[in-house]
Amino acid sequence: MFDGRRKSSHRALYLLPTGCNDNPNQEVAHVCYPDRHRRKGWENIKSSHRGVRRNFVVISSLSPVPPVTEAPIHAVTEENPEIKTMFSSILGLVAIWYLYRWYKESKRISNKGDKYVYITGCDSGFGNNLAKHLDKLGFRVIAGCYTERGELELKELSSERLTTISLDVTKSESVKKVAASIKSLVGEKGLWAVVNNAGVATPSGPTEWLTIEDYKSMLAVNLNGVIAVTLSVLPLIKMARGRVVNVASVFGRLSPFGGPYCVSKYGVESFNDNLRLNMAPFGVKVLCIEPGFFKTSMTDTMMLKNNLKSLWDRLSQDMKDEYGEAYLETSEFLHQTLDFYSPGQSFF
Ligand SMILES: NC(=O)c1ccc[n+]([C@@H]2O[C@H](COP(=O)([O-])OP(=O)(O)OC[C@H]3O[C@@H](n4cnc5c(N)ncnc54)[C@H](OP(=O)(O)O)[C@@H]3O)[C@@H](O)[C@H]2O)c1
Repeated sequence: MFDGRRKSSHRALYLLPTGCNDNPNQEVAHVCYPDRHRRKGWENIKSSHRGVRRNFVVISSLSPVPPVTEAPIHAVTEENPEIKTMFSSILGLVAIWYLYRWYKESKRISNKGDKYVYITGCDSGFGNNLAKHLDKLGFRVIAGCYTERGELELKELSSERLTTISLDVTKSESVKKVAASIKSLVGEKGLWAVVNNAGVATPSGPTEWLTIEDYKSMLAVNLNGVIAVTLSVLPLIKMARGRVVNVASVFGRLSPFGGPYCVSKYGVESFNDNLRLNMAPFGVKVLCIEPGFFKTSMTDTMMLKNNLKSLWDRLSQDMKDEYGEAYLETSEFLHQTLDFYSPGQSFF
């Protein structure tokens, strides 16, 4: 509670408790009921605050401000320069913060034509969009494509700066071959960035529907592939004091369904964190992207539905009986709901 006697420097403090008609001894600014006691209540307050009442505003909650209003708001700042200074300081700090943000975000990368970016999984989805986007911005994109068709389609839609290259991140020979080609392409400049984007979402389903081979096949792309590609070009990244960008997922932070997908993305998060610490002394940045749910071929409802159906078909009859047909239908319904609520195709 405000103590007018002991803290006279607080004269301008506005406190607005209500219902003070019968509490004339309270040493605070008051709001009084506009009932028959209002005037009486205010008179009591005035008499008990002779020294400080000019700094108080009395507001009635049900009637217009009574004529006993003692100090207009602007008088407070005029009489108390410290409050004025405080407001000016806050305004100044806010302005500096916005200026800083503007400066930081308006920074542009120079000499993009000298900067090589290696992206995996450029046949479709995020990788494909990113390759085209960076190409348009003027970077030298090295687009790893899983299929020949993916390479051809991307070449058609991009400039001659963009190089497509056949890549299977699960095959050591393929990863090494691509790294060797990149080394000769970038020369002394080194590699400005690698984006570990390639990934698969199937097989996915309840954990006990899956085999260890299912786990191995997904981890080979989503986790081992990320590690293999990164290690293959890390010396070139260090040469350019570049960056490693790992595409994980929101499912690298929470694991709401079974199967290897979340396991693989948790692994990517962990790899990302330890690499970031290890590379910091070399001036290499390591970044993790954690998308939510976007419409790409990976989240195609029909594909996910077929995946679940094929897992169901290979279950033993005992297991099918345990889960029941209704389980499959509910899962399909969930996929359709996710499909309905997911945002549009474009990531940029
Ligand atoms: N879409 C989302 O909502 C979402 C959410 C969180 C995280 N992510 C992550 O984002 C990344 C990109 O996914 P996306 O949504 O863009 O899906 P996508 O369109 O299926 O892209 C994945 C790409 O990886 C390629 N790929 C598959 N296996 C490969 C292999 N062994 N070697 C090299 N490339 C391979 C695919 O080639 P093909 O097309 O020829 O098979 C495809 O181009 C993935 O890591 C994914 O986990 C996506």
